[in-house]
Amino acid sequence: MTSLKFSVVLIFAISIVSTAPPPERKCRTVWTDLNKLELRQIGVCTKELGWKGGREKTQKSTCTMKCVLTKEGLIQEDGHLSITNYNSYLLDHFPPSLVERSNETFFPCFELFEGTNIGVDPDCKEYEPFTKCLTKRFADLCKGLP
Ligand SMILES: *[C@@H]1O[C@H](CO)[C@@H](O)[C@H](O)[C@H]1NC(C)=O
Repeated sequence: MTSLKFSVVLIFAISIVSTAPPPERKCRTVWTDLNKLELRQIGVCTKELGWKGGREKTQKSTCTMKCVLTKEGLIQEDGHLSITNYNSYLLDHFPPSLVERSNETFFPCFELFEGTNIGVDPDCKEYEPFTKCLTKRFADLCKGLP
């Protein structure tokens, strides 16, 4: 009985922790952290995909980005984007004051992808407009902020 009570309390505590929004931080601090996370994921994906040499690495760089975004849940295993996961990604990674701004930043990329025919391009080219849009807009995320 005591251990049941304990586990109920524990589960409750864990669910509070996992749904709490991240603490308020400056946009540039958030940006730097996300950038580090992204670079680490790119390293993991490059290793996993096992590209042979620099030429293949460049040619298949969109596949590497697709792998990163799949790991983050923004692209589903079936290759489609997940707006649901995207929305929770924003809430999990951005402090409340930056959620709206980050959504305005990235949402257009998701709209851009709509209607994209997901084929079997060996170089993942159908994802290129989407990944380029994300990268480009990410660079400007904190523009004009202190
Ligand atoms: C992002 O914007 C879209 C479109 O306006 C909206 O449907 C969605 O709820 C927003 N997401 C978040 C996390 O605010």
